[in-house]
Amino acid sequence: MLQKSNAQVRVYRDPEELALKAARLFARLADQYVIGCGKFTVALSGGSTPRAMFSLLSAEPFLETVPWSSIYFFWGDERCVPPDHPDSNYRMTADVLLSKVPVPRDNIFRIPAELPDPEEAAKEYTATLTSFFLAGPGANRTGTAPLSSVPRFDLVFLGMGPDGHTASLFPHTTALQAGERIAVANYVDKFKAHRITLTAATINNARNVTFLAAGEDKAETLRNVLEGSYQPDVYPSQLIRPRNGTLLWLVDETAACMLNEFKQG
Ligand code: 6PG
Repeated sequence: MLQKSNAQVRVYRDPEELALKAARLFARLADQYVIGCGKFTVALSGGSTPRAMFSLLSAEPFLETVPWSSIYFFWGDERCVPPDHPDSNYRMTADVLLSKVPVPRDNIFRIPAELPDPEEAAKEYTATLTSFFLAGPGANRTGTAPLSSVPRFDLVFLGMGPDGHTASLFPHTTALQAGERIAVANYVDKFKAHRITLTAATINNARNVTFLAAGEDKAETLRNVLEGSYQPDVYPSQLIRPRNGTLLWLVDETAACMLNEFKQG
C-alpha cells in the first residue's frame, strides 16, 4: 500500500483482483454501516471499470451476504440519455447488478438525466438528495444538527478518465467552480453534450471515497494526479479530498506503473 498526500493507494495484480477487492470493500462497508446505523448510502460511478465489481456482487457469496434491503443507491454522474439507453450509467448498473439482487425499488435513486433541460435534471436530483439526506431515510436521527446541508454519503465510488476527469467533472468545465452546490449540469465540449454530476463539495463530504482505476492509459495521469503539482482545472480528480472521510485508490499494476513509489517497490 502506498500513502499519497491524504490518499491510500492499493495496487493489485490485474483488473480481476481489483474488482474482487472492490466488491469486498463494498460488502464490508455495507455491513459496518447497516449494523452501525441501519442503512448504507452509496453513490456509484459509471464507465466500464465498475462493471466487473457489479458482476461479482450479483453472485455468491455477496448475493446472499450483503444486506441489500438496507442499501440506498445513487449515482455520481449520468449521461443525458434515457435510462434504457446503452450509454446510461443507470442502465449498466441495472443490467449487471440491480436487476439481480434483492434491493427494494424505493432504495434506488437514479439521476433523471433524460429530462430535456439538463438544469432541470440537476435541480430534480438535488431535491431528491436534499429530501433524502435531510428529511428522509438518510437524515441523521442523532438530534444533532447536520454539519452541512450537503448530503453525506457513506461511500462514493469514482473512476478516472485518461484526461483526469472524475464523475463528470471534466477539465476546464464550469462544474469545477460549483462551490457548495450539490449536483449540477455540466456542458462537456468534447462530447458536445451535457452531463449531470455531483459536485466536488458533495463528494468531499462523504465518509468514504474510493477510486477504481485500471489500465495503462491511466498511468501517466494517475502519476500526475497523485504525485504531480496541484492543478485541479487540468486534473479534476485532484479536487477530491474528503473533508472528514477516507480517500482510497484501488488500482491495477498497469495503472500504477508510473507511480514513483510504486516503481521503487
Ligand atoms: C462516466 C463516469 C466517469 C468514469 C470515467 C472512467 O459516466 O463515464 O462516471 O467518470 O468513471 O470516465 O471510465 P472507465 O471506467 O470506463 O475508464
